[in-house]
Amino acid sequence: MSRQSEINRRRTFGIVSHPDAGKTTLTEKLLLFGGAIQVAGAVKSNKIKKHATSDFMEIERQRGISVATSVMAFPYRDLQINILDTPGHKDFAEDTYRTLTAVDSVIVVIDVAKGVEEQTEKLVEVCRMRHTPIIVFINKLDREGKDAFDLLDEVETRLGLRVTPLSWPIGIGQDFKGVYSLYEKKFIHFKAHGKQEEEDIVEISDIKDPRLNQIAGDRLYNQFQQDLETVHGVYPEFSREDYLSGRICPVFYGSAVNNFGVRELLDCFVEIAPTPRSRETEERVVQPYEEPLSGFVFKIHANMDPKHRDRIAFFRICSGEFKRNTNYYHVRLGRQLKFSNPTSFMASRKEVIDEAYAGDVVGLYDNGNFKIGDSLTEGESLHFKGIPRFSPEIFRYVDNGDPSKFKQFAKGLEQLMDEGVAQMFIKEESQRKIIGVVGALQFDVIQYRLEHEYGAICRYEPLTLHKALWVHARDQSKLDEFKQRRRKDLASDMEGKLVFLADSAWTLRLVQENFPELQFSTSSEFGE
Ligand code: G4P
Repeated sequence: MSRQSEINRRRTFGIVSHPDAGKTTLTEKLLLFGGAIQVAGAVKSNKIKKHATSDFMEIERQRGISVATSVMAFPYRDLQINILDTPGHKDFAEDTYRTLTAVDSVIVVIDVAKGVEEQTEKLVEVCRMRHTPIIVFINKLDREGKDAFDLLDEVETRLGLRVTPLSWPIGIGQDFKGVYSLYEKKFIHFKAHGKQEEEDIVEISDIKDPRLNQIAGDRLYNQFQQDLETVHGVYPEFSREDYLSGRICPVFYGSAVNNFGVRELLDCFVEIAPTPRSRETEERVVQPYEEPLSGFVFKIHANMDPKHRDRIAFFRICSGEFKRNTNYYHVRLGRQLKFSNPTSFMASRKEVIDEAYAGDVVGLYDNGNFKIGDSLTEGESLHFKGIPRFSPEIFRYVDNGDPSKFKQFAKGLEQLMDEGVAQMFIKEESQRKIIGVVGALQFDVIQYRLEHEYGAICRYEPLTLHKALWVHARDQSKLDEFKQRRRKDLASDMEGKLVFLADSAWTLRLVQENFPELQFSTSSEFGE
């Protein structure tokens, strides 16, 4: 098969949701369809369970397991599907944001009873910034929940997405009879037996078909007729072009645990979802079909075995073909690197691959060469844009707890920061190190890993900060004035960029008023 057809076969996407909406269940059903797993329950171990929120050891253990399922690749029809897993746990939200830079589209799962939840809002915001095509799957229709129209309104207002339903539920909860696929013009009858049989699908080209009335009963049938009239009157016709440009998102209804509505979702997905998309770099736009290889590292995962300090760098191929044992140019380090055992991820097993194509993610064994955002090319200097870093929310000073282990402490911290476990800032005046995280759990993870992987002890000291903000200025003299006046609140991030540490929202407002020429940003991009 030619390189171009290989690339055209790739569909790389992520599934995102607020915890418990059904992401793991949906992923698992998709893998079952793809034949990537044979039994239900195989993906469950990937999930960081609710009860583990305060138990970081358990989380680390599960993180170890999850390396294998971070990317799940399987063939479906003629296509190669790559699902990139995103941690649902909010303390790992940054990991999810970065993973979203490596996908070409996403499926958002929403719980019918809970509607749009906080975590979903944040994740969709990141997708919207990047114009990522989105499909919404409203899950758990077998349970009582919100009205189908109200949910669409919620998606429009809270997620800022324009929607068009491609399936429509008949009844809900106890009364749930099934969904009508507006896309394929057929009715799928719901029977809660966990699998969908051929006879459950009723081909209906005319929605007034009496068979529908028989199945649904008069009340639900009449309601459905009315609903559909409203749907046609209110929502725009589905257009693939609008979906691909992120202007409209199709909505499906179903029940993942009952494997209901999942095949319809997958069948529509493979028809409409984008092939590998072009990617912006600081230098130029990279097209997937270009011959030379290029791509970037979006995630780094430490080996869970403390005796082997190697790591896996997750590399998204943006153009061309990746080959084993071939020299590639590491742009930041300015040198050639060769990989003898790059791995692909086939559901629960990893295997060494000889080649991979734009759209794929390969795992590269690394002993400290990579940082998040690094690019590999065939010689061109390319810096991929849009790998975000957000202001942490919780901060602490971190100090070395054992003077005889300073080297281990410094090395350990540096490597953990390269992995994106947390962000570190160095205070300008005192040169003290500050760690910033999204969830407090990361402090425990850092302390534990420093001790067990690097033999170093760290001590924390509390620090109350509102936010860390990246400072940009066009006018150098204003910047100098600001630096002089706020010296005690300045720090630099790991790339040496200037950061203002605001101790309260009030201070931030004051500084913004005093220095209107400066920009204070709550996000930054790697390598920007
Ligand atoms: P997450 O990855 O988004 O966090 O959610 P997950 O798939 O683990 O699903 C959360 C809970 O919701 C699970 O129940 C799962 O079985 C259930 N669930 C998923 N889809 C549906 C659905 O269509 N209908 C109903 N009624 N429930 C659904 P749990 O009790 O937390 O876990 P488990 O004991 O079933 O594994």
